[in-house]
Amino acid sequence: MPLIERGKLAELTKREEERYVADRPKSRALFERARGSLFRGVPMGWMTEWPGSFPVFVSEAQNARLKDVDGHIYVDLALGDSGSLTGHSPLPTADAIARQVYRGMTTMLPSEDAVWVGEELARRFGLPFWQIYTTATDADRFAIRFARMATGRDLVLVFDGCYHGSVDEALVTVKHGSAVAQHRKVIGALPNPASRVIQFNDVEALEKALAPGDVACVLAEPAMTNAGIIWPEPGYHEALRAITRKCGTLLILDETHSICAGAGGCTREWHLEPDFFTIGKSIAGGLPAAAMGLTREVSDRLTTPPRGIPGKHFGIGTGGTVAGTILQMAAIRATLGEVLTEAAFERMIAVATRLADGVTETISAHALPWHVNRLGCRAEYRFVSDRPRNGAEADAAFDDELDTLMHVYMANRGILLTPFHTMALISPQTTEEDVDLHNKVFGELVRELVEGAGG
Ligand SMILES: Cc1ncc(COP(=O)(O)O)c(C=O)c1O
Repeated sequence: MPLIERGKLAELTKREEERYVADRPKSRALFERARGSLFRGVPMGWMTEWPGSFPVFVSEAQNARLKDVDGHIYVDLALGDSGSLTGHSPLPTADAIARQVYRGMTTMLPSEDAVWVGEELARRFGLPFWQIYTTATDADRFAIRFARMATGRDLVLVFDGCYHGSVDEALVTVKHGSAVAQHRKVIGALPNPASRVIQFNDVEALEKALAPGDVACVLAEPAMTNAGIIWPEPGYHEALRAITRKCGTLLILDETHSICAGAGGCTREWHLEPDFFTIGKSIAGGLPAAAMGLTREVSDRLTTPPRGIPGKHFGIGTGGTVAGTILQMAAIRATLGEVLTEAAFERMIAVATRLADGVTETISAHALPWHVNRLGCRAEYRFVSDRPRNGAEADAAFDDELDTLMHVYMANRGILLTPFHTMALISPQTTEEDVDLHNKVFGELVRELVEGAGG
């Protein structure tokens, strides 16, 4: 099994970094200027964390392509880390937004589209009642709030390696086997999170964590996607559901990313039965929107008189004024109705399979101790031979040096991989030619690394 020679890796990374900088004078100049007004030179901190000395500055994005200010065109396999899983500015969504923008955007009142959206979410994901929010973080945060209201308990159980946005309770990791610690990548001190954290796929740890009967909810992705893809082992979801029910703990499944498994997410694919379902990012085609579903049983436990409780506002602590807007409703309706359809997912998954197969071929041809993992239209390669089973194994499998080289090498050849991991998302607009280009570049990079050929 060939090992990657670190000297060669460093040499290639240096060469690619130099090329990245030299080819992007306009992005570089904008970044320098932006440092005078934007904190760290970007409107959102993530943006400095793409590999490369500075982020590319976008001039436009359309379908599965993105163009930067220096005129480079990229096959975008990052797709805003799912926010543009639809492809950029899908026409039906763009048209619906354009029509609605001239007829009102925010009203604190419902529209007819809202009814269509509620019915479609119920049909797709199986839970009968829905609320609309602006971000997935919000959907998770408010699901936790409702779970606490319904159970009268405080604690939230999450899995090591999870990411659910900036929900404090989930920015934690396992310390010395079982205690909770702030996640090592989180900047700044957090208030003591009201959390317990365990490893995914560990039924015994789950039983132990829920046994005291003080956990309001488990917040989980059906398959983890933020520390690489981590699949549930056979029987794990059955155990998770049985143990949560036995302990009176509610189950929140966050399908913000795992929607990539199919039009109904893992919940429909795998016949899961969460108490709450949350999703954000892609459902309005790139416009900020998110949704939270809840079961009839939970809804009954939360039921207030039809016009609320005298002296209390239902929205306070459980929503926002720019959530559930008529603009979001128009965008979600168009996106779910015409873009993220069953037929679109079928195509997206076939194209993702082509990408994964191509990468596997290269890995096998060079007998590399690497693997590819795919969940629907999301494919990810990791630089270890076996799929990690939990967050600890996934963390140990990170290879930041290889990861950086992959991203910069790809960017220099017109491909954007998702930052923070070597992950590719396939939109309805991503073509077989796009993934063939990716697979060709991946093959060239591996050959350079292993044999010293190419360039
Ligand atoms: C599974 C999951 N849930 C929630 C979020 C939060 O999304 P947002 O940052 O749009 O609130 C993320 C973000 O990556 C996520 O991966």
